[in-house]
Amino acid sequence: MIVCICRAINEKKINASIDGGARTAKQVYHSLGVKPKCGKCRPEIQEMIDNALQERVQRLPFLHQEILQAHELLKSPQPA
Ligand code: FES
Repeated sequence: MIVCICRAINEKKINASIDGGARTAKQVYHSLGVKPKCGKCRPEIQEMIDNALQERVQRLPFLHQEILQAHELLKSPQPA
């Protein structure tokens, strides 16, 4: 779905930009090599960023558990 009509930026591009480290709408525009025109998409882009970061924070306990399990596997004796 197109989020920014002026610059034809879709959700996929914005998500890729977020995955690449963009944390503000301005950083998303910059990473995509565009400048906003009307700026009406800015709140929606920021909301996408906020939601993506919130999802990652919610996954942290699970990631922590997975890391601990992997660490325990590495510490267990390996078959010869
Ligand atoms: S809709 Fe994105 S700059 Fe206008």
